[in-house]
Amino acid sequence: MAKRKKAKKRRTKATAKKSARKVVRLSSARKSAKKANGNGLPRPSNKPYGMAGRALDGLRILDFTHVQSGPTCTQLLAYMGADVIKVERPGAGDITRGQLRDVPNADSLYFTMLNGSKRSITIDSKHPKGTEILNRLIKTCDVLVENFAPGALDRMGLTWEHIHKTNPRMIVASVKGFGPGPYEDCKVYENVAQCAGGSASTTGFREGPPLVTGAQIGDSGTGLHLALGIMSALYQRNRTGRGQKVLCAMQDGVLNLARVKLRDQQRLAHGPLTEYSQYGEGVPFGIAVPRAGNDSGGGQPGWIVKCKGWENDPDAYLYFITQAPVWGAICDVIGEPSWKTDPEYATPKARLPKLKQIFARIEQFTMTMDKFEAMDLFNKHDIPCGPILSMKEIAEEQSLRSTGTVVEVDHPTRGKYLTVGNPIKLSDSPADVRRSPLLGEHTDEILKDVLGFKAAEIAEIKNSGALSAPPKKEKAA
Ligand code: COA
Repeated sequence: MAKRKKAKKRRTKATAKKSARKVVRLSSARKSAKKANGNGLPRPSNKPYGMAGRALDGLRILDFTHVQSGPTCTQLLAYMGADVIKVERPGAGDITRGQLRDVPNADSLYFTMLNGSKRSITIDSKHPKGTEILNRLIKTCDVLVENFAPGALDRMGLTWEHIHKTNPRMIVASVKGFGPGPYEDCKVYENVAQCAGGSASTTGFREGPPLVTGAQIGDSGTGLHLALGIMSALYQRNRTGRGQKVLCAMQDGVLNLARVKLRDQQRLAHGPLTEYSQYGEGVPFGIAVPRAGNDSGGGQPGWIVKCKGWENDPDAYLYFITQAPVWGAICDVIGEPSWKTDPEYATPKARLPKLKQIFARIEQFTMTMDKFEAMDLFNKHDIPCGPILSMKEIAEEQSLRSTGTVVEVDHPTRGKYLTVGNPIKLSDSPADVRRSPLLGEHTDEILKDVLGFKAAEIAEIKNSGALSAPPKKEKAA
């Protein structure tokens, strides 16, 4: 009896000691974590850079986007590691799958280059069973991204109130053509946004009509803005615990990119825009910012000049900037050393009215060499300039391949194709650039692994018709 009592005492003592050690260990761990970080962040990872997962691992996106603006945003998030589940209409999918097709029966480059690294599920969002699946997806995803025409999401029953009630943490991110106002109900495509955002009126040559630019600043530009909005909303959710709506209007996105022209509009009230070549040519300014051809938008005058071979090669040109700090070097290289001290040329102000003549002289010089030789020569003297690269040259440029900006991926029905990888490089998160999914390629996998449906339930869902295209109506005889 006494022996047993002694043993019990020993055990109790040992347990007490153990738990005391535990308490000490836990509290000291917390203390040292606090000491190390001070802001509740985990300790810095010991894993080598690039081996600690991807930036957006664990983030799940319900991707209701189509065409270009929305898909640009979600593709970027997928490259950064998010699990992007693209919901597409059964039988049809994103309309771009079939637009501008180059290979018969294969998804177009239009689609494949905007939907890489995503998973595709087909759901008829207007079918009752489809609604049920979508509600389940809303519960498990962090962000819903859409760029339907105004009102389309509501017509599917996916109002903000419904989504927020179903998952208060969900962020609902939308691209629309216009923000609230007279045009809010309008459908909008790229060039409409370029026109409404102030870009077209300020692009092109003064004597010609407004011009749209090839860079998709309305679609892709707004998609990029949306990605930033989503990231900010996610960061705020860490504090508030709740989601919010993120809206990017294409008109706003274009205007944001064209803000230097709104700057110039206000400067007009105080006199002519002296850095525009129209000033040097003595052409009076009107009431609005004019088109400025290839004038530079900043304080250092620039223009496009011809290089050797321009007669046959439409891209044998160089953009040349007469940056003030290297004016002396420019004069020496082009063979006009006297311009360094001649009061007619020596200061930026004196040069402004003569820009046309100065660029004509520079062009005389650049026409003696090809654009790459010119680039090499001027860069030796720290003179800013850039060759006009064709898309062919860009596709073949090895340095863009080695940085992952241009990536070749393999596709089961169209074979190899080039896509633009992640232009944003993260040192600890290598980009995950994979081919685009086939229509509905991941339907079963998502139903099973993400939503937890059993095989029998999946069969029932399939039988309901929620995942397939409605049967084609018989034509009347
Ligand atoms: N199941 C069932 N129906 C679906 C569906 C699915 N999985 N996915 C889409 N639909 C339906 C929508 O509910 C909508 O139906 P409704 O109008 O009867 O309610 C319909 O498909 C078409 O959607 P919508 O967005 O109007 O497509 P559209 O081809 O007519 O217009 C745009 C295309 C781009 C002009 C328009 O979506 C738009 O203005 N978007 C906002 C701005 C934008 O992003 N523009 C740039 C695009 S790159």
